[in-house]
Formats: sequence, C-alpha cells, structure tokens
Amino acid sequence: MFRFEHVYQGVLQDINFSMEKQDKVILFGPSGAGKSTLLFLLNRLNDSEQGDIYFNGKPIEEHSITDLRKQVGLVLQAPNLFPGTVLDNIKYGPSLFGEWEEHKGKELLDYVQLPSDYLDRDVDQLSGGEKQRVSLARTLANSPEVLLLDEPTSALDYRTAEEIEEVLECLMEEHKLTMLMVTHNLSQARRLGNRGLFISDGQILEDGKMPQMLDQPKTEELAKFLEQ
Ligand SMILES: Nc1ncnc2c1ncn2[C@@H]1O[C@H](COP(=O)(O)OP(=O)(O)OP(=O)(O)O)[C@@H](O)[C@H]1O
Ligand SMILES: [Mg+2]
Repeated sequence: MFRFEHVYQGVLQDINFSMEKQDKVILFGPSGAGKSTLLFLLNRLNDSEQGDIYFNGKPIEEHSITDLRKQVGLVLQAPNLFPGTVLDNIKYGPSLFGEWEEHKGKELLDYVQLPSDYLDRDVDQLSGGEKQRVSLARTLANSPEVLLLDEPTSALDYRTAEEIEEVLECLMEEHKLTMLMVTHNLSQARRLGNRGLFISDGQILEDGKMPQMLDQPKTEELAKFLEQ
C-alpha cells in the first residue's frame, strides 16, 4: 500500500519501509526523532527532498492531492474542529465533493460511539474526548483506506484515552483500515499495533512485530529507550 525507498526530508535520513493493507503500524521513538515529519509524508503535508514514496504502486506525487487526502485521513493530538455544530464539522469534507447524505450523520456518530442527538451540538460544548471522537468521525466521513494518527490520545485523561482506543480498535476491525499511529504510550502500542517502527534521530532503527519488538529489542538504542 505504501512503500518508502531511500527517503530524506528534514531530520529524516534514508527511510525505507513498506506498509501492507490492514497493517497496524506503531511509529515510536524519542521526541524530535521525526515521527510527525514521517507521518505527514503519507498525505503530502510534507514532501520528500530525496527518494521515492509509492502509494498503491504509483509514485505518491502522481496521485491528486485531494484524492490522496480522502484516502489517507489524518487525526492529530488536539482535535482541530472549526466553530459550529458537530454536523457542520462532519459533513464538511463530503459536501465539498457533493457526496454528503443526511443518513451518514447518525452512522458516523455510531462509529465513534456518540449518540445521534450530538449532531446538533455546538463543538465548543463538548469534552476533550468527545471532540476527539468528532475529529475521528470527520476523518471517517471521507471513507479513508488509511488512518494516520499523531498521538490521538495523548491530550486526554487515562480513562478517556482508553475509550478512544476502544473506538479505534472497533473501527480498524469493521472497516478493514490500514493504520499508522504515533504514540508515546507503549501499552497502547501493544494493544493496537501489529507492527512497530522505532525511529531515533531521523532513522528507523528497528522494524518489527508488535508487541514482540518491545519484549526483545534487537538494538541497544531501543533497549535503552524502553528502560526510560
Ligand atoms: N517545519 C519544520 N521546519 C524545520 N524543522 C522542523 C519542522 N518541523 C519539525 N522540525 C524539526 O524536525 C525534527 C523532528 O520533528 P518532528 O515533529 O517530526 O518530531 P517528533 O518525533 O514528532 O517529536 P514529538 O514526539 O515531540 O512530537 C525536530 O528537530 C523539529 O524541530
Ligand atoms: Mg510529533
């Protein structure tokens, strides 16, 4: 689905990896390692300076950016909703393409486990966890194949983070999505991932199975990182 060949961008150096359909990849490593920089290459919020990135067999820059961003959805740490109601936010993307249908509102809220009467609520009145659910629903409204998640639960309290995690788990299963998630929470990485990429100083130092790579690190760097 995605293939990186000798990719350089900013701090990132010689990034090589592939992601198959329905992979659940956890990207983790120290702060400043280049996790967000790498994640943003997959929907062209960043473009590589050198090397090649393929999406579904075709160079990423040969896909139209609009199509690419519909297929590759992004959810950030802080929910970036715009002022208005929940419905305003989730219908925005599909409406741009004339693809909004009224029945989708309830369906999308179902996916993220919010009651349908939330559609008319003002987003300012929602809790942090509810906002993150709406952010997810808004991304799902475009029916993406791939979900990019940049620390989607790190701004939430423990209990709320667990709830969002459960929502994510169900979504991956039901919609057969492919995921690349950045997280600092290693127990979350264990629960949600089937593969891991450990990145440090802009380089992928380990590419392995999750959770095995956390139990048997191959490099000294990962072993040290796990001790902290
Ligand atoms: N737009 C930019 N211009 C210049 N340097 C940048 C830019 N964005 C990030 N950087 C630098 O690139 C490096 C990697 O940043 P990045 O945000 O990818 O790290 P990260 O692994 O996501 O860290 P964190 O865990 O803190 O989110 C950092 O040194 C950062 O200062
Ligand atoms: Mg980051």
